[in-house]
Amino acid sequence: MRRVTVPSDSVVVVGCGSSTLVRELVDDGYAAIIAVDIAQPALDQLRASLGHCADRVKLVRGDARTVRLAQPVTLWHDRATFHFLTDAVDQAAYATTAARSVKPGGHLVLAEFAADGPTSCSGLTVARHSPASLQSAFSGGFELIESFERDHVTPSGVTQRFVHALMIRRGVGSVVE
Ligand SMILES: C[S@@+](CC[C@H](N)C(=O)[O-])C[C@H]1O[C@@H](n2cnc3c(N)ncnc32)[C@H](O)[C@@H]1O
Repeated sequence: MRRVTVPSDSVVVVGCGSSTLVRELVDDGYAAIIAVDIAQPALDQLRASLGHCADRVKLVRGDARTVRLAQPVTLWHDRATFHFLTDAVDQAAYATTAARSVKPGGHLVLAEFAADGPTSCSGLTVARHSPASLQSAFSGGFELIESFERDHVTPSGVTQRFVHALMIRRGVGSVVE
């Protein structure tokens, strides 16, 4: 796997859940971190896990399909949220929102269940993806730079196949401007 460095001064973690990523971003010195989740309990849990660092993160209860950030960011990160959208209209709304939320030249990082990954997550049917399907879903605003698949082993020992994608936001003038 090639290591890619993505410069970023502002990041939104979409469908953050209570993932440790947000704390890692704080510890890495990111100054402008936004954590979005549709579920208030997830945000409450994240806030509790951040402890005294919670005031360094803007926690937003919002839907990835419609959320409006106060300012566009340079990095949108989503692990295991986009795959909950099984409907083309919802996927298009998410892609439009991501494009609106990321500055030209900024990046989109996705990690979703792969084509041979699980068919459900948290009891809900998911859409499984390939690099091509992700590229297609986000083609209105983003260009695929890199993708790969890997197995993720959950804390309970279950192996899940994920597809990871790194995309760059195209410049001014795309269809979602
Ligand atoms: C499987 S969890 C992943 C959490 C975290 N990203 C991680 O990797 O550990 C999916 C999260 O996405 C949130 N979610 C689902 N649909 C969403 C939506 N439309 N907008 C925002 N968050 C959503 C859920 O509430 C949940 O916290």
